[in-house]
Amino acid sequence: MGRKTWLSIPPRFRPLPDRLNVVLSRDTSLDLGENVITATSFDDALQKLAERDVGRVYVIGGGEIYKTALQHPATENVLLTRIFSPFDCDTFFPALDGWEEAGREKLSEFVGERVEEGNQKEGDVEFKYELWQKKSN
Ligand SMILES: NC(=O)c1ccc[n+]([C@@H]2O[C@H](COP(=O)([O-])OP(=O)(O)OC[C@H]3O[C@@H](n4cnc5c(N)ncnc54)[C@H](OP(=O)(O)O)[C@@H]3O)[C@@H](O)[C@H]2O)c1
Repeated sequence: MGRKTWLSIPPRFRPLPDRLNVVLSRDTSLDLGENVITATSFDDALQKLAERDVGRVYVIGGGEIYKTALQHPATENVLLTRIFSPFDCDTFFPALDGWEEAGREKLSEFVGERVEEGNQKEGDVEFKYELWQKKSN
């Protein structure tokens, strides 16, 4: 995640549990404690994760980091929650140019469980899970 996303998480909820937290900042002196890895570039983050032999790496934002991740050759999938209600926002996910939606079968395979067809609803908010993959050309 980017440094601004880290700061947007209330202190009592960070680091996010049950996963290794990696925070990107160009500030080489940033120290967020012994349980949080800091990295000065996307490649630096991937390098540090490779040294720890972790499984799948998830990029959780914000907008600036998503933009970098989408352009990086190591990024293979986008798990997207499409929300069908209007909200005022100040941070945006980049356009998925050069990516295409993979079907529900691939999405279910990717997340390891059956994903319901069509839109889902939580309270008044309707949404849909989607998997996007790079166009093969
Ligand atoms: N709704 C959601 O699902 C969701 C998810 C994530 C975030 N968010 C929201 O998004 C907002 C933050 O997004 P944002 O786009 O403003 O900021 P961001 O992407 O979280 O963080 C930007 C910061 O990350 C560092 N950074 C960016 N690119 C880098 C690179 N290539 N190498 C090293 N460091 C890099 C820089 O830190 P330095 O300035 O320290 O160099 C930069 O200022 C927050 O309001 C958060 O709540 C929402």
